[in-house]
Amino acid sequence: MLTLPELSLYISHTCDIACPSCFTYNNLNWGGHFKPDWDELGKLKKNVWVDFIAILGGEPTTNPYLHEWMDLVDDVWEHHRDKWIVTNGRNLNSLPDNWITRDWQLEISAHSPVDLAKIFQWFQDECPHAVMKKYYSDDEDAYTHYQVCLGGAQIAKISESWFFFKESLIAKPGQKLTWDKLYDVETAHKNCIARHCMYFLEGRFYRCARQAILPQLSKHFQIDGKYKNLAEQDLGCTAEELPEWSKTRLEPQSQCAFCPWAEKIKLPHRSVTKKIKVLQV
Ligand SMILES: C[S@@+](CC[C@H](N)C(=O)[O-])C[C@H]1O[C@@H](n2cnc3c(N)ncnc32)[C@H](O)[C@@H]1O
Repeated sequence: MLTLPELSLYISHTCDIACPSCFTYNNLNWGGHFKPDWDELGKLKKNVWVDFIAILGGEPTTNPYLHEWMDLVDDVWEHHRDKWIVTNGRNLNSLPDNWITRDWQLEISAHSPVDLAKIFQWFQDECPHAVMKKYYSDDEDAYTHYQVCLGGAQIAKISESWFFFKESLIAKPGQKLTWDKLYDVETAHKNCIARHCMYFLEGRFYRCARQAILPQLSKHFQIDGKYKNLAEQDLGCTAEELPEWSKTRLEPQSQCAFCPWAEKIKLPHRSVTKKIKVLQV
């Protein structure tokens, strides 16, 4: 049995907000939801174990098939207890009523103080017996966090997620997508905080969020010719190819050149909702 540390199932380009420097570019003018891929993910059942599973996007709680995606995970990885919905916490009512008893947890990234207040209110209303404990740890997008427990069991982690790594993508209304420059692949990979976060997107497995999203970006948007060939490469694999392909999952790849992982920016006090209308294909 092949064991992988982490797999994120990317189920939606759609997001209800448009955070500057979103590293899966959900602040651009695109949308769409993926249906649960029982065929491709079903091939992992009893063959591939994943220690940490996440469902995300875009915003997974906007996906009309979210419940079925959770059913799919529960079917492929029975009795899994480290499975998370990664969400901005703005549509928590779309969760299935039994998410807690099915051992799902929420990784909530509040992208503004205004959203954080509404998330706290939701827990007071929907989980009045939940206990919150504030703590500090330097994460990719946050320093201040809240552990949410019910009956002693952790059910959620809320983060004040408004410190983002500045993206190198340049997205201007009515223009093609371009980048400020390409970075040294080895250095970018060494600095990369997401190199263990494999992604599953539209039937294929990828080493990281960037390599998953770039081919999608090239399908939807016009790209500056200087970067087009590199951006449109698909470095992913199928379920059949996964055992062999995963031997190189921690090796630097050409598309690491798009990853600065250097400077940080602070997001606005109120979450941005206006998408950047770049030139579409
Ligand atoms: C792309 S979001 C998708 C899930 C959901 N919409 C959300 O916001 O949590 C996944 C995670 O990436 C983080 N993230 C996105 N762009 C980032 C950036 N430029 N720097 C640091 N973290 C980032 C978000 O805070 C979130 O925890």
